[in-house]
Amino acid sequence: MQRESWASKLGFMLAAMGSAVGLGNIWRFSYVAGENGGGAFLIIYLASILLIGIPLLLTEVSIGRRAQSDVVGSYQKLAPGTPWFLAGFMGIGAAFLILGFYSVVAGWSMFYLWNYLTGRLFSVPAEGYGFVFDSFITSVYQPLFWHGLFMIITIFIVLTGVKKGIEFANKLFMPTLAILLLLLAAYSLSLEGAMEGVKFLFQPDWSVLDDPSVYIAALGQAFFSLSLGVGTMMTYGSYLSKQHSLPGATVGIGIMDTLFAVISGIVIFPAVFAFQVAPDSGPKLVFIILPDIFAQMPFGGFVGILFFLSLTLAAISSSISLLEVPVAYLIRVNNWSRRFASIVTGSIMFGLGVAASLGMGVLSDVSPIGNLNIMDSMDFVASNIFLPLGGLAMAIFIGWYFTKREAFDSTDLTNSPLRGLWYIMIRYIVPVLIIIIFLNALELI
Ligand code: PHE
Ligand code: NA
Repeated sequence: MQRESWASKLGFMLAAMGSAVGLGNIWRFSYVAGENGGGAFLIIYLASILLIGIPLLLTEVSIGRRAQSDVVGSYQKLAPGTPWFLAGFMGIGAAFLILGFYSVVAGWSMFYLWNYLTGRLFSVPAEGYGFVFDSFITSVYQPLFWHGLFMIITIFIVLTGVKKGIEFANKLFMPTLAILLLLLAAYSLSLEGAMEGVKFLFQPDWSVLDDPSVYIAALGQAFFSLSLGVGTMMTYGSYLSKQHSLPGATVGIGIMDTLFAVISGIVIFPAVFAFQVAPDSGPKLVFIILPDIFAQMPFGGFVGILFFLSLTLAAISSSISLLEVPVAYLIRVNNWSRRFASIVTGSIMFGLGVAASLGMGVLSDVSPIGNLNIMDSMDFVASNIFLPLGGLAMAIFIGWYFTKREAFDSTDLTNSPLRGLWYIMIRYIVPVLIIIIFLNALELI
């Protein structure tokens, strides 16, 4: 069977940006930044994006494009008879873990969308938004309903195929989300006490840098946000033909994704301080802050509808990219139809999400890792361990397994003045930084 491909380079760009921009920029970025001290975290995060993320993004996409195969197949094709393909399986494992909980959180966003549509969240409920949210996520069936619905939508788009499904879904909603975020940022900055939040986000408190977990959190957030280290970008790259040049495209994706994160920080933190919520409130942060902002602003109910609509759609364009990783693999290896592969994979992920969702309530005593609940444990293993290790593998693969010629050829850097810089980054700096951050987190150095 003929493999699929993007209709155009623009199609690839939109899909890759759609994958990158999602709940990671708004929901995950703000609570991870809030938990890790704000400004100093932001600096480590930006450094991770620049020094590790963007060079690796180019690397990952180019491996896929060169091999024209899924994440396992790419390694097998380019390094036959070696154990490199195991890195591909780690990526598939990460895709299951991430989409497992990602679809639960996306379900929360859909629940909010629904409640804005019905007008129920337009004004602050008597018990406050925090209470409404807590009683929702700790209940059994309601979050599972939205999680299931979100998963069905994701499966449906993926089974309609790369061009029609994924490419189309990305074209409309990114601009809407960008415009809304800018509008909200302006409004948030006008709140009384906003400066406090601006300071929190931009004025580094260097003392937090003594804690090694801040570096691993920033690195994990950089990988998560750029959709890096799973094989998503490799798989998307494999639907791209050789005639399109990559370096500019990947830098563009990196910048775009980072802007979305920083701007949502400018939305969230001024409001966090204005409404006197603790910045380290964890995963529920945006879900209690945003409704408070909407309740205050003119036409807030309408803004709420638009916001949660575009957040949900941004989540969909990321979730389809996660589902596509195992689906592409299963289509090739088992000769399954796209339809069958999407349904089987999506159902397993739904099951993982059920555990994550129940872990907020009835199973809240279950802590697979340390004192983390089920969802946070899945996120921790995937984002802070699997993704950086996946990225490390890609860097070593292209930096040391490929010849220098092959490395430049597959990244389209052969005639670029930046090729030397990229090569040093990917061969030495990226691997060393990732290893140092890991050893540091294990308190070995
Ligand atoms: N980058 C996406 C986001 O920020 C999440 C994601 C991670 C998507 C890994 C694909 C792979 O929401
Ligand atoms: Na992102």
